Amino acid sequence: MSKYEQVKTDLQANPKTWLITGVAGFIGSNLLETLLGLGQTVVGLDNFATGHQHNLDEVRENVGEDAWQRFSFIDGDIRDLDTCRLAVRGTDHVLHQAALGSVPRSIADPIATNQANIDGFLNMLVAAKDEEVGSFTYAASSSTYGDHPDLPKVEDKIGNPLSPYAVTKYVNELYAGVFARTYGFKTIGLRYFNVFGPRQDPNGAYAAVIPKWTAAMIKGDEVFINGDGETSRDFCFIENVVQVNLLAATARKEAKNQVYNVAVGDRTTLNNLFNALKRALEDCGIEIDTFPKYMDFRAADVRHSQADIEKAKLLLGYEPQFRIDEGINKSVYWYMEFGKNEERRPRNCI
Ligand SMILES: NC(=O)c1ccc[n+]([C@@H]2O[C@H](COP(=O)([O-])OP(=O)(O)OC[C@H]3O[C@@H](n4cnc5c(N)ncnc54)[C@H](O)[C@@H]3O)[C@@H](O)[C@H]2O)c1
Repeated sequence: MSKYEQVKTDLQANPKTWLITGVAGFIGSNLLETLLGLGQTVVGLDNFATGHQHNLDEVRENVGEDAWQRFSFIDGDIRDLDTCRLAVRGTDHVLHQAALGSVPRSIADPIATNQANIDGFLNMLVAAKDEEVGSFTYAASSSTYGDHPDLPKVEDKIGNPLSPYAVTKYVNELYAGVFARTYGFKTIGLRYFNVFGPRQDPNGAYAAVIPKWTAAMIKGDEVFINGDGETSRDFCFIENVVQVNLLAATARKEAKNQVYNVAVGDRTTLNNLFNALKRALEDCGIEIDTFPKYMDFRAADVRHSQADIEKAKLLLGYEPQFRIDEGINKSVYWYMEFGKNEERRPRNCI
């Protein structure tokens, strides 16, 4: 039995109370769905800055009314310490996901990103420490590698941050380290690489590449590539991220006060990503006659990114179950089923 299967079995036998911040967002709502499915009690906190009620509605539909009764929601802001204290009260595990994502957003408005990602993070750390929660796992980021040239990225070799967003995520790690040394409050930071999957928002100026392109291709809109398309990323399907959060929350003491890369260990160029999405959509009966349109490189974009995931494998028992193609098939199916593109949605896909 894999470590993940073991953890899920143990949690089902001995259910816990969890707090998920950012629960109405992409990653938070997927964590919620898994935890409710495993019989856990969950408190969720979100201010809907970038999250959506429809994400919560979809989880409710998927898990059913009985499981939904084990969920309580706080419509609140992590920038408010009292709200954080209220949210952590009585919880065993905290999965802190709330933040303002997106490098370009942080360049446009560094103050807003700083307030949510640093002030909010510090509030959550203080609240969780004072409540003496059993575990605190937080969303760190691969942006912390900044301009370090090495590939694959290994946790202890980082460069200079290339954006305000990257600064905020690195400061989270610095605070986490200080809380371990100063107060003995030990956390786990998960440096997510490009996560994708169902419920990732395809709309808005700061949408991530996979949802943005998928939605555009389904609608027959143009797809824009920043740069020459040879920029590469280690795209990580959401189920892998859910797995590692549960492993981190239940990890033994020696695995705490650490940061871990969370990805698959693969590298996919944007040109290859475009072709993979095209294939997946064509398999679902959608004709794609779009060619990508190449634009200027985007400010502060890291050229290549690929994770070394040995540390998470060794210390957490992480075994990514989905590679990019399987993830893309599942995601494309979701965007077609649940997207807003009624008229082009085929009836017979999968
Ligand atoms: N998606 C990725 O590829 C990726 C990569 C690296 C790190 N991360 C990190 O993972 C976490 C989750 O990202 P996501 O992709 O699910 O993004 P998301 O935007 O879908 O979710 C973030 C959630 O946090 C909420 N939020 C923001 N500010 C808040 C505040 N002040 N108070 C309460 N709630 C607030 C938003 O409303 C949203 O529901 C973030 O911390 C992000 O920085 C994501």
